[in-house]
Amino acid sequence: MVLSLVAGSGNPILAGNLSAALRAPLVPRVLEHFADGELHVELEQTVRGHDVYVLESICPPVDTHLLELFFIADACRRAGAGRLTAVLPYFAYARQDRRAHGREPIGAHLVARMIEATGFHRVIAIDLHSPEIEGFFHLPLEHLTAAPLLAQAVSASSDTIIVAPDLGAVKLAERYQAILQCPIAVVHKTRLSGESVSVRSIVGDVKGRAPLIVDDMISTAGTIEAAVKALFEAGCRSDVRIAATHALLVGPAFTRLAALPIREFLTTNTVAPLEPLPNPHRVVDVAPLLADVIGRLAHERSLESLVVHR
Ligand code: R5P
Repeated sequence: MVLSLVAGSGNPILAGNLSAALRAPLVPRVLEHFADGELHVELEQTVRGHDVYVLESICPPVDTHLLELFFIADACRRAGAGRLTAVLPYFAYARQDRRAHGREPIGAHLVARMIEATGFHRVIAIDLHSPEIEGFFHLPLEHLTAAPLLAQAVSASSDTIIVAPDLGAVKLAERYQAILQCPIAVVHKTRLSGESVSVRSIVGDVKGRAPLIVDDMISTAGTIEAAVKALFEAGCRSDVRIAATHALLVGPAFTRLAALPIREFLTTNTVAPLEPLPNPHRVVDVAPLLADVIGRLAHERSLESLVVHR
């Protein structure tokens, strides 16, 4: 099958990088809004019988990008695409993976059902907030992780300690540990609201150590801010490094990060930044990883070494 790459508007830079890495030009398409705000999508090239990969980072404004994904998929399906794969570097609503209180939807489950309903055959995602989201899909989901890319980009010394800023980040911290061979500490966090958290305690001996805080995403940076403060109170060194796959950086994130003594901020380009990232920072390109996976899928080859198993 001919491989075709179609991109939404969520992350134009990553779309360009992936197109270059795959040596596949982006399918020209129209993405516009009518005067009443309705989305209109049109593919300007045939995809009939093609192996189509639809790249859309569901970053802010998330509902706009989600709808683009659905409209592009429907356009491809109606145009006779042979196979349709959603490439979702950042999967919004992933944090709504359970009912924390009564009378709430399970947003991640609902989004998974909607993605299925639009006719995709397969999904590729990177560092989902919880791996259990795979079970929300009936179709194959290839769950990749950027942790090895980020871990290989940082150097660890004998006094480095990897810090999971909440219990949910422990598995991710273990992926960094497998490469960096450093001890792990875990921050016991409680979320008070969408923008604020509090820290109850830290598990692990952080005194005198240089922290490398790892997380799947930084949204308002409340988690990072609270973790850094708690680490300092516990006697950690002040040269903090942060590695997070998805730099959403919304609301007070930039102000919060600017006030912290961060030695290095390391992230990927799964999300297009709304503003220039805080300095000093480094961005790891996930396009080669995605291109590798797409190349393997296109030729029905194993992804064994690339996907997350737990
Ligand atoms: C939560 O469990 C996630 O892994 C992140 O720690 C969290 O979503 C980050 O959000 P914020 O930056 O707003 O604290």
